Amino acid sequence: MSTDPLVVFTPSGKRGHFPKGTPVLTAARQLGVDLDSVCGGRGICSKCQVTPSYGEFPKHGVTVREGALSEWNAVEQRYDDKRGLKPGRRLGCQATIQADVVIDVPPESQVHRQVVRKAAAVRAITMDPATRLYFVEVDEPDMHSPTGDLERLERALREQWKIESVTADLTLLSKLQPTLRKGKWQVTVALFRDHAGGAARITEIWPGLHEGGLYGLAIDLGSTTIAAHLTDLDTGAVVASSGIMNPQIRFGEDLMSRVSYAMMNPGGDKEMTAAVREAINDLSKAIAEEAGIDPNLILETVFVCNPVMHHLLLGLDPVELGQAPFALASSNSMRLGALEMGLHAMNPRARIYVLPCIAGHVGADAAAVALSEQPGKSEDLVLIVDVGTNAELLLGNTERVLACSSPTGPAFEGAQISAGQRAAPGAIERVEIDPETKEPRFKVIGCDLWSTDPGFDAATATTGITGICGSGIIEAVAEMRIAGLVDGSGLIGSAEQTGTPRCLPEGRTHSYLIHDASDQGGPRIAVTQGDIRAIQLAKSALYAGARLLMDEMGVDKVDRVVLAGAFGAHISTKHAMVLGMIPDAPLDKVTSAGNAAGTGARIALCNIAARAEIERTVHEITKVETAIEPKFQEHFVAANAIPHKTDPFTELAKVVHLPNPSFNAGGAGDTGGRRRRRRG
Ligand code: FES
Repeated sequence: MSTDPLVVFTPSGKRGHFPKGTPVLTAARQLGVDLDSVCGGRGICSKCQVTPSYGEFPKHGVTVREGALSEWNAVEQRYDDKRGLKPGRRLGCQATIQADVVIDVPPESQVHRQVVRKAAAVRAITMDPATRLYFVEVDEPDMHSPTGDLERLERALREQWKIESVTADLTLLSKLQPTLRKGKWQVTVALFRDHAGGAARITEIWPGLHEGGLYGLAIDLGSTTIAAHLTDLDTGAVVASSGIMNPQIRFGEDLMSRVSYAMMNPGGDKEMTAAVREAINDLSKAIAEEAGIDPNLILETVFVCNPVMHHLLLGLDPVELGQAPFALASSNSMRLGALEMGLHAMNPRARIYVLPCIAGHVGADAAAVALSEQPGKSEDLVLIVDVGTNAELLLGNTERVLACSSPTGPAFEGAQISAGQRAAPGAIERVEIDPETKEPRFKVIGCDLWSTDPGFDAATATTGITGICGSGIIEAVAEMRIAGLVDGSGLIGSAEQTGTPRCLPEGRTHSYLIHDASDQGGPRIAVTQGDIRAIQLAKSALYAGARLLMDEMGVDKVDRVVLAGAFGAHISTKHAMVLGMIPDAPLDKVTSAGNAAGTGARIALCNIAARAEIERTVHEITKVETAIEPKFQEHFVAANAIPHKTDPFTELAKVVHLPNPSFNAGGAGDTGGRRRRRRG
């Protein structure tokens, strides 16, 4: 048995005997313990911080006494004076082993630390980004052994970090010489490793130790909005999130109208590519500014998007995606450089990764949802609905996963709605209608009060009440159905039929007034018959897509439903069900996952193994093409009713009574749903 001191690392539990005087960092490396280091043990990066524990550890069979590690040294003192070390912490590269010891590696010193996701922690993200920093000391040039600066840098990386081969492009090479000299032959390099292997690529170089951080962007490029999360590639923390409207809206609101624009206008695809790239440049500049970082520190960007946006982003003509068989130029993932893509509000050598597409109609956004929500690992049958202008649907369990996309149009995002607007302060996002008085109350984004609460007017004085956003219109229509203002066919009743003067005639139809500030020059917000039709079209497309997947799977019911999408977190599951947006399921089995596509992009940004995983997974997903499937139309028509023409929605009926199947058949009909339920 070894007489050398025993070292036990926690939380990994890895243990081994090491001769007295071995630095903790060396022991950690030999045992394969996850302990970070950028400076390679020179005592300047502080990444290697550890906490020794003292006392009895029966679990590990060791007793740790004072003096188990070497004395606090001058390097640690200098670091503590300059930056401060937490009490009890030591630098793993400075402290040496003197006797049996238990050493804890805190999460921030682990290279592959876990980042817990805020929303619905389906999976934690393990940090293993493609780009990492390495500090090296490079030999100075020597007349007697003439080698280039790059070759000596390569040698230093090989000797000091065991990195065998590296490449550098011309723009990096042009910075290399001045940087090496400025850093007095000590530099930090950012190295990008491709998950498919090959030589590592030097993407940036700084003189001395670079302590300014390293960042990546995860971008969810949607048809209507573009959302970006600026992520610290060391900690995995999202340091800023921001979104803007997709400027391509001016070429067409939905995907097919953009494809038609490209077909009808020579050079139209180029125009749309330029518009979206410019918007991404503006967005990355703004988000870097918001976080107070230099855009040059953004060294990686991951994109998720639907197939049409994918082609338009990459500068590929989307025309083939407008007609069967919907061939993609390439469905594989894309690995590119920022400059190639015209992205200049980030480091010019930043690496771009675009997730693979599943098929011509099912894009990298659906792949990102699969990466985030993992339907293939679900024991029960889960339907994941990513609601947006184009909805992505995934249905599956451990046996099989199916995917399709459905052209819902932009109604769910507040477009094509008379008083619609995007989700921004001042937009109505929640609506309730009293089933007895038929009076509405609502909440706007930016204020926690209901419109009937005291102080609401003062609280909304700055934002105003400007319109109704996607989640607001969904709730409004569903509440109108529950209150008996809208019948099963989607028809808004007259004042007589519904018993409220808020139902006003508008041409040959009616609208329901929610808020009227027109006498003070403000907006008049009503739900019109046209709005209901737009919502019906959108929700029928969504439901029909889900039904097609269920047909293919041979099932009539799903065990649970996950609502995802930029506003998935804001949709009330009950209201989504009342509208019949999703198939009937017990309400407690319908959950929201927030922006799952954006989360998938973040996972791919922070973990290179996830890139390999999704590239494998997309080949295992069965694609169902909604556009060429005749049953889609059949399902679509039946789903036009609210909630549905033929499906009884029995789970929904257990919790919500829907009055007024038809105004035309029943005149004033049954408008007292809640009253009757209370009695009976
Ligand atoms: S490894 Fe950099 S300070 Fe210890």
